[in-house]
Amino acid sequence: AKKAVLGPLVGAVDQGTSSTRFLVFNSKTAELLSHHQVEIKQEFPREGWVEQDPKEILQSVYECIEKTCEKLGQLNIDISNIKAIGVSNQRETTVVWDKLTGEPLYNAVVWLDLRTQSTVENLSKRIPGNNNFVKSKTGLPLSTYFSAVKLRWLLDNVKKVQKAVEENRALFGTIDSWLIWSLTGGIHGGVHCTDVTNASRTMLFNIHSLEWDKELCEFFEIPMEILPNVRSSSEIYGLMKAGALEGVPISGCLGDQSAALVGQMCFQDGQAKNTYGTGCFLLCNTGHKCVFSEHGLLTTVAYKLGRDKPVYYALEGSVAIAGAVIRWLRDNLGIIKSSEEIEKLAKEVGTSYGCYFVPAFSGLYAPYWEPSARGIICGLTQFTNKCHIAFAALEAVCFQTREILDAMNRDCGIPLSHLQVDGGMTSNKILMQLQADILYIPVVKPSMPETTALGAAMAAGAAEGVGVWSLEPEDLSAVTMERFEPQINAEESEIRYSTWKKAVMKSIGWVT
Ligand code: G3P
Repeated sequence: AKKAVLGPLVGAVDQGTSSTRFLVFNSKTAELLSHHQVEIKQEFPREGWVEQDPKEILQSVYECIEKTCEKLGQLNIDISNIKAIGVSNQRETTVVWDKLTGEPLYNAVVWLDLRTQSTVENLSKRIPGNNNFVKSKTGLPLSTYFSAVKLRWLLDNVKKVQKAVEENRALFGTIDSWLIWSLTGGIHGGVHCTDVTNASRTMLFNIHSLEWDKELCEFFEIPMEILPNVRSSSEIYGLMKAGALEGVPISGCLGDQSAALVGQMCFQDGQAKNTYGTGCFLLCNTGHKCVFSEHGLLTTVAYKLGRDKPVYYALEGSVAIAGAVIRWLRDNLGIIKSSEEIEKLAKEVGTSYGCYFVPAFSGLYAPYWEPSARGIICGLTQFTNKCHIAFAALEAVCFQTREILDAMNRDCGIPLSHLQVDGGMTSNKILMQLQADILYIPVVKPSMPETTALGAAMAAGAAEGVGVWSLEPEDLSAVTMERFEPQINAEESEIRYSTWKKAVMKSIGWVT
């Protein structure tokens, strides 16, 4: 049969902490045509450590591309219509590899990993000048979350890394860099780059000058020659060197939370989105201004869609554990067999009956930044069963979002009138309703939930030299939205929230 011609298509790799996806969109309508997803293993070699295999991640990208192309073929869609590929990725996760062999020199140290707690404590004792040294340049608190300390750990502890640095064979990158270098040829001329959004999560990047910061590299003792080149989020970085899409330009790159902001069309100052993935991240566009939080939020680069385009910043509330708590209930407790089952369990009871679950598995991120916190489940009685725990886990995701929304409202002065949401967990209707009840504002979700991938595809399609996607507001097709209105009264919502805060206080200080 003759293959249907749809006009230019754009692909997007969405490499998250829990899974990898490849998705193909029609650039004219933003319609999702086909996709494939593969779950990624996480290893926990010691208490608090979280690692992934960089080669498994790369393999999963190739697999998703091949499978998606096969599915397009079955739909009679010609893959030669794919004109560009965007990459969005879990941020901060740190890889060091050998540029001569293409081999990773250690597992990827995942953003959630806590092994650098003592590194952070030692570094914070010797911050030069005032305590603001790191934050004023990077927008970030000194924390285990960001790449600089993970890289410091690798340099201090892994002989292979030390040797490769001495012999000028080591390259550092976050997942975007590792993927782009590998996909554009690896040892045969792979391009070693990152974009401003991913760079802004390393704690080595000056978010004002948009360059690697020499003083920060000295402070963390990071050799600058192993760092990737920093590019905009939308430009041609290189061409795919293998597989079904060989020769297609990779021309979009954004950390996944930035990509979701773009995919949700939050281009105006004050527009915000909350993405429910492994963690949960609320980003509010602050335009060309770097706004510094007084309530535990981060300042981060939102996007820069082209070499000559201006940079946009965002305030970010980061929650480490959202979807990860569901995976934990599945993999560690076995009380559900699949993630979707959580909704059924929660629905059976419709309340946690006073059970609260603070999933501080990696300490607490925003707004507390408490590495000493650990997960607790409290308020248990003999009446409590797995359904209540499931409900409490969902409620925890909503309470954590409430905490960062409150902080955002205080920092911005103008409270958000509704919350735009996206990400895997938003297909859970109980969660969405609970979220509206706990925030006491409407929660609004686009009917196409793959906004992270959409953002990366938009950046790739709009790049100079590709030009198949226009980012002008009038060209953005009206997206259908589903709305969840608050149904319980504000007073009831406040009581639940204040009990949650009591539970949070109990989770802090478990590790000293
Ligand atoms: O900062 C970490 C974040 O980028 C991870 O995103 O989608 O894997 O929860 P996700």
